[in-house]
Amino acid sequence: MSFETKIVCIGAGYVGGPTMTVIADKCPDVKVTVVDINQSRIDAWNSENLPIFEPGLDDVVKRARGRNLFFSTDIPAAIKEADIIFVSVNTPTKTFGHGAGKASDLQYWEKTARNILEIADEGKIIVEKSTLPVRTAAAMERILNSNDKGLHFEVLSNPEFLAEGTAINDLFEPDRVLIGSHQTESGLAACQKLVDVYAHWVPRDRILTTNLWSSELTKLTANAFLAQRISSINSISALCERTGADVDEVAYVMGKDRRIGSKFLKASIGFGGSCFKKDILNLVYLCGYYGLPEVAAYWESVVKINEWQTHRVVDRMLETMFNTIAGKKIAVFGFAFKANTGDTRESPANLVVRDLLAEHALPVVTDPKAIPDAKRDLKDVIEQVSFEEDPYKAAEDAHAVVVCTEWKCFAELDWKRIYSSMAKPAFVFDGRNILDADALRKIGFEVTSIGKGK
Ligand code: NAD
Ligand code: UGA
Repeated sequence: MSFETKIVCIGAGYVGGPTMTVIADKCPDVKVTVVDINQSRIDAWNSENLPIFEPGLDDVVKRARGRNLFFSTDIPAAIKEADIIFVSVNTPTKTFGHGAGKASDLQYWEKTARNILEIADEGKIIVEKSTLPVRTAAAMERILNSNDKGLHFEVLSNPEFLAEGTAINDLFEPDRVLIGSHQTESGLAACQKLVDVYAHWVPRDRILTTNLWSSELTKLTANAFLAQRISSINSISALCERTGADVDEVAYVMGKDRRIGSKFLKASIGFGGSCFKKDILNLVYLCGYYGLPEVAAYWESVVKINEWQTHRVVDRMLETMFNTIAGKKIAVFGFAFKANTGDTRESPANLVVRDLLAEHALPVVTDPKAIPDAKRDLKDVIEQVSFEEDPYKAAEDAHAVVVCTEWKCFAELDWKRIYSSMAKPAFVFDGRNILDADALRKIGFEVTSIGKGK
């Protein structure tokens, strides 16, 4: 079958895979090819066991794969035939040199741009899908358009707002799609081409178009604002613990004010995930770069409060468990950074496990989806940590259970059974406030929740 439009996405990760799958599903007239340098990831996309767990993803992949959705490692062939190239490679925090610990490491992005330039024999639309520092498009254009083949590449910014665990729904019914372009004739024409793709299923009034820099900056800012709400409520959770206020009640009532809204006010052991911390630190770096140290300090405090909140878990455990947890088995319920994903990147559970080890406790990690990634993340301390698929076994003889991920299945466990198998007194630290603390206390547990006095 011949297709009028050919889209290629470079990078078959948590964003490239699901976003392209949904584009292919909704646009049967468009050929979508997702490419990656990672052969095993591509093999997994072509198999029954997809490389990422995302509710609903399997069905959509099955519908489109082989029809107009293809996964491949043949990057040159894909680039050659593409009209529109999305770039969705990783953009981690730089770990070396200038800006280490804050700035974005753009080496994967730049490699991709040079790769496109080397292979392309006609001009193309290049779409920034990765989250990038504001003004990256300017650098990309300089690289791409500095060719002696006389080719013109138009760079668009189309940041992704999906959240893991709800990616398919977020993609099917996005609050908005954002496309940034130059406000020139060729920029606006390229923008319209991408609008036409999304307009297959997204209502036109939800496809927002801006200039390139607004689009790039909006993505960083949106993540910073979301994370800032979590740090704000988490800071208040500590005050609630001292004063007898209940953070869930405070958040509920505050959220009823429509100017504040109810979302992203769930107090927790801290936010995790591959992006919030990285994107805020990138914003902090950019503010410093543009000579705005006060703005940088404001946003950096969001990350500092988050780390402090996670460290408070083991501090509170010590306070409650007679100032020592050395030699005590502690069941860690959940290692994914949030529920409904196997992703453990920047998971607060990782920090909790390391704090437990620093106190010479004996952590046992259980998680319905994330044990393989947990083992990878804890490789350097693997001899000191145990892993257990079955949460009941994880809790056997433990002195405490600490809930680190808001998996619904943890709330549905038989807590009487868990209580009877644990050392006494049996402690529960609910780092996500998902358990019925009163019911647990009736069973006999000593329960500590986030943002609640005892
Ligand atoms: P990821 O690490 O899961 O996937 C990136 C993929 O790019 C990897 O499979 C890697 O092998 C591939 N890659 C790297 N260099 C390549 C190259 N030169 N050629 C071909 N493939 C290459 O990352 P992700 O979570 O999908 O994130 C990608 C981008 O999207 C990041 O900028 C991130 O900030 C942003 N983002 C992520 C999310 C999320 O929920 N994970 C949401 C919105 C935006
Ligand atoms: C987040 C944003 O929600 C997406 O819009 C964005 O596209 C994405 O980052 C990205 O750029 O990577 P994600 O990290 O997948 O998505 O998941 P979230 O639902 O935002 O949760 C992030 C963390 O905050 C999790 O650890 C979660 O448990 C925690 N959280 C969330 C809270 O502690 N309290 C809340 O009220 C909400």
